[in-house]
Amino acid sequence: MSLSALPKLELHLHLEGAAPPAFIRDLAAEKHVDLSGIFAEGGAYSYTDFWHFLKVYEAATSVLTTPEDYARLTRAVLAESAAHGVVYSETFLSPDFCGGRDPAAWAEYLAAIREAAEAAERDDGITLRGIVTCIRHFGPDKAKETAVAAAETAGDWLVGFGMAGDERAGEPADFAWAFDCAREAGLRLTTHAGEWRGAEHVRASLDALRPERVGHGVRAIEDPALVDRLAEDGIVLEVCPGSNVTLGVYPSWQAHPIDRLRESGVPVTVSTDDPPFFHTTMSREYEMLNRNFGWDEEAFKELNRITLDAAFCTPETKTRIAKTLEPS
Ligand code: ADE
Ligand code: ZN
Repeated sequence: MSLSALPKLELHLHLEGAAPPAFIRDLAAEKHVDLSGIFAEGGAYSYTDFWHFLKVYEAATSVLTTPEDYARLTRAVLAESAAHGVVYSETFLSPDFCGGRDPAAWAEYLAAIREAAEAAERDDGITLRGIVTCIRHFGPDKAKETAVAAAETAGDWLVGFGMAGDERAGEPADFAWAFDCAREAGLRLTTHAGEWRGAEHVRASLDALRPERVGHGVRAIEDPALVDRLAEDGIVLEVCPGSNVTLGVYPSWQAHPIDRLRESGVPVTVSTDDPPFFHTTMSREYEMLNRNFGWDEEAFKELNRITLDAAFCTPETKTRIAKTLEPS
């Protein structure tokens, strides 16, 4: 079985976090910005832990200053995803980085990203949809502005709203206004939780923000009652095992709970998060799931069904994507 050739769907991908290091290095050189401190000798991104990773991520993002930069980034990222068999992807976009939360500037960035995604759909056969994310450690007031910008651009392309950043900053209820605003605009909801804080924080996030999906969510495994709740309510986890192992949430693939969560009936999906930062690709995630937990072609087909069901795109788009998953 060639795992890289299997069609794949990905729901949890940060656009800036997917930027190849060479792309960011070249853009920095074009703009005469010295970013040498964020790269290791061999050219990869360099950081010491999750909190340093967030700083390096923001430094890399600082050279993406125009809608055109984001259009080029979108093409580069989608070409890479398509090369690993990804046919549908949802990506996190942050008005914080795209025009400083100014709604008019955000609309221009979004238009450029969307146009690039449409070109990639024609050329590379991959469909992209967007999820606006507020950045938790930027605080609740900025999250409100972000939600307003997201609400104004909600539609059949910008389909969701979520929250990333430092999970230890603030409490979920601090962000309820932003999530309510997004929900009222028709956006579907997801939030990062259960990566750096435990099951209690996943529970608090569900209660305060009422998301349909949780980014990571894996530390729910620490509380069997919560695992039951996720399974019964069909709360989908956007699991990024390679990210978790590289960042040290778990010491090894064998110790990762994705297979136990799946066995417990929790709808789990698989994504790369910030692939070049974590030295991964969707092919590698599949390879490691096969090697460590014996997931076979049938398991990956089931994964595709769950993932497409959990996608935030329209039913028409789902029907079209489902056709590409059928053997020809
Ligand atoms: N932003 C980019 N990657 C992230 C992650 N894994 N957790 C939280 N915020 C992020
Ligand atoms: Zn993430």
